[in-house]
Amino acid sequence: SWTPEHFVDGMVASLQRTIGETDQVILGLSGGVDSSVAALLLHRAIGPRLHGIFVNNGLLRKEEFESVLHSYQGLGLNVTGVDAAQEFYAALAGISDPELKRKAIGRTFIEVFDREAHKVEGAAWLAQGTIYPDVIESVSVKGPAVTIKSHHNVGGLPEHMKLKVVEPLRMLFKDEVREVGATLGLPENILHRHPFPGPGLGIRILGDVTPEKVDLLQRADAVFIDALRQHGLYDKVWQAGSMLLPVQSVGVMGDERTYERVVALRAVTSVDGMTADWAHLPYEFLAEVSNKIINQVRGINRVVYDISSKPPATIEWE
Ligand code: XMP
Repeated sequence: SWTPEHFVDGMVASLQRTIGETDQVILGLSGGVDSSVAALLLHRAIGPRLHGIFVNNGLLRKEEFESVLHSYQGLGLNVTGVDAAQEFYAALAGISDPELKRKAIGRTFIEVFDREAHKVEGAAWLAQGTIYPDVIESVSVKGPAVTIKSHHNVGGLPEHMKLKVVEPLRMLFKDEVREVGATLGLPENILHRHPFPGPGLGIRILGDVTPEKVDLLQRADAVFIDALRQHGLYDKVWQAGSMLLPVQSVGVMGDERTYERVVALRAVTSVDGMTADWAHLPYEFLAEVSNKIINQVRGINRVVYDISSKPPATIEWE
């Protein structure tokens, strides 16, 4: 019968045979569970000949780049963190259309990844965290997202650099990937992380993306996610996040009239992301989060909760 321990032993031996004793391997890390588990398997097989590349696209959650990079380093992985936030902001400047934002983010990712990958001497392999559901069906994300997904898996690169592809998780389902990750010592914060879209906050800021809006949304979102954890609700929902809406509304603060932004909170329950129900979070919890965001995040004076299910709504707003 299948056990994560047997899988690890078999896969490590197989990776060693396939890759050999001298080849270098490149892997794009996202902070998600799949790429992280793929990295740990390869690390066990070939040690520092695995070169992880973790790109900060400036669209991650608050302090996520630093904390995830720190986790990777704590696991002994040979990882380069590349802070390319400004490059992504420049590519996104003035773009409001969701599809065009995805394209700009995907294109910039390839440019950055490509540049970093070329710095690895003797690179012969591109490793990917592809899992079985990715293999059998085109992923259930909106049209261009599929392109982004393949961008994130750096589809163009192998041809360009003549890299061979290695995908150690190809035969696993998500729950098996998590079991393997637990066996390999992947920390909780990565093991049980909610799904997070490749284009990140770029598709949770409706309208054009600016560094100021990213900062605003990151701070509001951190209040929401921290509160979910504190109340033991984080693991009860499939995914949660915050959307920055392109409208301002009137409020009062002290004697002053304010005219500031609206944040929509979104939390859903789901088994696979294909269909989803809005999470029936307790009113008291929502009240606390709303108060905290409005009091702590200047520039936001109104919080709403999304009560739409998928279908006909989608999980993301863009
Ligand atoms: P929707 O919004 O289509 O999202 O209900 C379903 C799941 O897919 C994620 N998602 C994406 N993931 N690139 C990704 O890698 C994308 O462009 C993208 N768009 C949506 C979403 O977070 C949810 O888990």
